[in-house]
Amino acid sequence: MKTETELRELLASLTLEEKVGQLVQLSGEFFSDDEGLKTGPTQKLGIDPTMVELAGSVLNVAGAEKTRAVQEAYLAKSRHKIPLLFMNDVVYGCKTVLPIPLGFAASWDPDLVRECYAGAAEEARAMGIHVTFAPMLDLVRDARWGRSLESTGEDPWLTSVYARAMVEGLQGDDLARAGIASCIKHFAGYGAVEAGRDYNTVDMSERRLREMYLPPYRAAVEAGCRAVMPSFNVIDEVPSTANTWLLRDVLRGEWGFDGAVVTDYAAISELVPHGVAADDAEAARLALEAGVDVDMKTACYANNLCDLVRSGAVDEALVDEACLRVLTLKNDLGLFDDPYRGASPAEEERTFLTDEKRARARKLADESIVLLKNEHDLLPLDPQGEGRIALIGPYAASHALIGLWAVQGDPASVPTLAEALTEIAGDRVTCAQGSPYLVDESSLGFFGRSGAGDAAWDEDSLGALREEALAVARKADVVIMALGEHPMESGEGGSKADLRLPAIQRELLRAVHALGKPVVGVIFSGRTPVLSDIAPWCDALIEAWFPGTEGTHALADILFGVVNPSGRTAMTFPYATGQEPLYYNAFNTGRPEKTSGHTNRFTSRYVDCPTDPLYPFGYGLSYTTFAYENLRASSETLTADGTLEVSVDVTNTGRMAGDEVVQLYVRDLVGSVVRPVKELKGFERVHLEPGERRTVSFTIDEPMLRFWRRDLTFGSEPGAFEVMVGPHSAEVQTLPFTLVA
Ligand code: GLC
Repeated sequence: MKTETELRELLASLTLEEKVGQLVQLSGEFFSDDEGLKTGPTQKLGIDPTMVELAGSVLNVAGAEKTRAVQEAYLAKSRHKIPLLFMNDVVYGCKTVLPIPLGFAASWDPDLVRECYAGAAEEARAMGIHVTFAPMLDLVRDARWGRSLESTGEDPWLTSVYARAMVEGLQGDDLARAGIASCIKHFAGYGAVEAGRDYNTVDMSERRLREMYLPPYRAAVEAGCRAVMPSFNVIDEVPSTANTWLLRDVLRGEWGFDGAVVTDYAAISELVPHGVAADDAEAARLALEAGVDVDMKTACYANNLCDLVRSGAVDEALVDEACLRVLTLKNDLGLFDDPYRGASPAEEERTFLTDEKRARARKLADESIVLLKNEHDLLPLDPQGEGRIALIGPYAASHALIGLWAVQGDPASVPTLAEALTEIAGDRVTCAQGSPYLVDESSLGFFGRSGAGDAAWDEDSLGALREEALAVARKADVVIMALGEHPMESGEGGSKADLRLPAIQRELLRAVHALGKPVVGVIFSGRTPVLSDIAPWCDALIEAWFPGTEGTHALADILFGVVNPSGRTAMTFPYATGQEPLYYNAFNTGRPEKTSGHTNRFTSRYVDCPTDPLYPFGYGLSYTTFAYENLRASSETLTADGTLEVSVDVTNTGRMAGDEVVQLYVRDLVGSVVRPVKELKGFERVHLEPGERRTVSFTIDEPMLRFWRRDLTFGSEPGAFEVMVGPHSAEVQTLPFTLVA
């Protein structure tokens, strides 16, 4: 490892071009050993060819052999032998793909998430990946946004808990020796795009930004993440990529972040269409002055910074500080000692998809799957029974179960639901596709094709699929419907204006329901879809998200009762798309529908839709039942330096052992600004045998009650509060207490 002095000496020995080169990140085609192959991309990007050779980092090149070859060729030409930095999207698993973050957020098991992320880092390191653009920490309250998939939901406190777990898992405690560096994203507030439309405007008060959207990123900075990626959107009408207040005042000034800031894809050049830069040169200046260190995939820095420095328009000290941060990141990763960081085919063989990683991924998927409905205890099915099982739907035999951002994952390595169920129930299971994901995929563009030949299906083919499925259903004793959004209807660029499942699938389900058989709906999605129209056609209903490499094994565990479901959704399931954004920690308003003194018409409600969600934040069923009794507090008052103990007795009142996620919420009844009707402040997963009773206790203290007050100072205010405990945000028992000055 170099000392800081040695790093500064190295910096001083670089030419201006070499320093700017360290700030340039290009994709893999620029590092081909075939000069001819580089010409096209170089011309297309319009980048100065000499700067291609000096680029300091590369995007999305992975694999031990590939990264070693690129690094070797790069160093051979490097005057100072500064190693190339390999950055990739390892967002929720690497080769062993985890459930999507919105899925595992329902596990309320941050310790297991930390372990799984450590496993992902081990696989990524073996592939020669040094930095991952993860975790994504954008709070999301609007399921129309396709990138809900990558988020851990709508609560700032829970997302902060996961933020720490993911960063710690990825980086471990000695980055020079193990792990990979975490570049968190997208800073900040990207999840609040208006209308849920990707890349759209974000507009909110500084108070809301600080109260709801910044805490998860701050938690990651406090956990030691090494890099931060600014978001595509504006904050206070200034794009994050050029937002000095956000990047220098808040991130570095208030939070003390001293790592690298790496833009999102082509974001510097997008300052021009945003309308804050007239050209790439001005965009480069604005970004550097705002504190952006690395320019991902544009020529803005490469083609302009040297001239801007030489003309005096930009202070070379800004280039120096950015370059030093990049050199420091490479040094922290141990790259000056070992530019390959132990990457090798043997390491890949040793670390990929091990039984241990698969077992952890399966456990996380077990805990992520949410049981939404289970009429007449239809589930679990009897694994030793005789009943014939029809498995119908586009996801019945699909491998597309890993979501959009599982870049290194291989869908072919993921067992289908049909395979997983057959492993347990053998020939009791008969499978039929029943329908495609969508009748017409053309709206997804070429990128989204599921490879089903023509973009659109004809009526005859659709009819044949449906008749085949109905024939299978007629012979069955129970029907499992494997339905969901098209795999490409979520993720980046996957915003939707209608959150219901595709019409062709809803029609198939209705036809199966009409046969009068017991129906289990299993939903695969990258968001919380609208299920209000199909829930009545299902006796049991499960949200499986995109459950990852071991997801169908986990589903089989749950469908056959090997595992008792314990998932509790970290994002609200809307009743209708028009309710979005919809979230539990909302303000009461002056005319709350249920308690206002005004006549119903003139309260905060819709004339054509319920106000409440279909399933609230924190909700999920179990195969057993739990009773909450004797909620009690150690005192009715809390002092600034004291604590309040809150306890509740939880009993498993059913016949099956199970895990319960006991949730703690708090409400500040009167503030200098309006306060949410409840805020999650704690939880505990408890495992209870049938009949077992456990006292679950929480400690409340004054720091938990702090918020951004009317004068935008952060602190608590004495007065009346409520503490609430229960199985989810819409079912709580409440006690009052007072915070005294
Ligand atoms: C994408 C995404 C970002 C990702 C980056 C590099 O556009 O916004 O999340 O890390 O480009 O792939």
